[in-house]
Amino acid sequence: MTSLDDQARSILRQNDRGGYTVPTHGLYPYQWNWDSAFAAWGFSTFDLPRAWDELDTLMASQWDNGMVPHIIFHKTDPDYFPGPDVWSTGQTPPTSGISQPPVTATIARLVWEGAPDESHARMAALYPKLVKWHRWWHEVRCTHGVAAITHPWESGRDNCPDWDIGMAGVDGSSVGEYTRRDTGHVNPSMRPQKEEYDRYIAMVQFGVKVGWDTARIVDDGPFLMADPGITFILLRAHEDLAALGRALGEDVSEIDGWSTALRAALPSIWNPALGAYDAKNLRSGEFAGVLGSGAFLAYLAGAGNPQLDAQLMRVWDAVRYGIPSADPEGAFFEPRRYWRGPCWPVVNALMAIGLVDSGHTDLANRLRRETAELLEKHGFWEYFDPTDATPCGGARFTWTAAIWLTWAKEGREQAKGAA
Ligand code: DGY
Repeated sequence: MTSLDDQARSILRQNDRGGYTVPTHGLYPYQWNWDSAFAAWGFSTFDLPRAWDELDTLMASQWDNGMVPHIIFHKTDPDYFPGPDVWSTGQTPPTSGISQPPVTATIARLVWEGAPDESHARMAALYPKLVKWHRWWHEVRCTHGVAAITHPWESGRDNCPDWDIGMAGVDGSSVGEYTRRDTGHVNPSMRPQKEEYDRYIAMVQFGVKVGWDTARIVDDGPFLMADPGITFILLRAHEDLAALGRALGEDVSEIDGWSTALRAALPSIWNPALGAYDAKNLRSGEFAGVLGSGAFLAYLAGAGNPQLDAQLMRVWDAVRYGIPSADPEGAFFEPRRYWRGPCWPVVNALMAIGLVDSGHTDLANRLRRETAELLEKHGFWEYFDPTDATPCGGARFTWTAAIWLTWAKEGREQAKGAA
């Protein structure tokens, strides 16, 4: 039988479309922003130049305003909806009009630290583009302090309950007829609902109407919410970017200023009634009142605290595998529906980096063991039911394979050592 390492490497190779990697065959036939960053991390374990190629291809589609889009439509595939004609952004190659969690600087730092000499020139070439992207986040999306999203897909945690209050204000009733493709690839009970899709498309149609003016979408668009997940990822990424800049001998004072401003804004997303960081509707000022996995990314930005530690243990001990994407004790919890409950190996890996950095090595090890167990049981699925390990979503998934190679596989050794 082929080893899990071999299987993971073959998934990365098979999903490679020449300079970029699709998240999985069929369901996601294009280049996705944060998936690509994780793919690069995976490639770095066995093909360093290919890892940097992945990041270069992603950053090559940066818009003039600095935004790096969430999907790049290199070759049209009629089996995905909404495709380039729906987004209609006028970019070449065509792209979507929103961004995604900016993990790239953090991953670039990990790849660079793994092989600094061989990576130096590649990292130096990428650096100014990353600075430009982070400046866009700061100037366009942090105008309310923390990071705001203008579409749930931008969060990467598409249909998590965090966005329900913002989604309630979006009118999806006049989007017209369309055919979803995702539910032809994956069990519909594991995907977002039709009413959510109508609203997702309404937000895309608004972007088209205003010519994808990203500042105008913040001011007048149908949806604007503070995202704890992106906020913590961005804060960590600002700090990683500054570290890269210092290694290159650059002046990083501008980047340090972005970090300071973002950290100072964190109290605005601490919801005392919830006892945790929380998403907030920036149109109304109302908190979501939902404990989701985005809150636990606080550890990644050194923003954990004892109250959050207690919340983490509560939601984790309520399931069996890894950290659920939504609170298992919430009425919204659905253990197999995409981001409304399932455990995502890729988010576990990010949280574990943060847990180690904040001194919770024992918890990071537990998370790694549980993630390794899921992948050993079932292979490289997109996400898993955290109560019984049922594999969900797409199979042979790029970022899950990458997470095995870079992080989870050591959990297997730990489990053996403990036995
Ligand atoms: C999808 O198609 O479900 C994607 O997550 C949107 O980016």
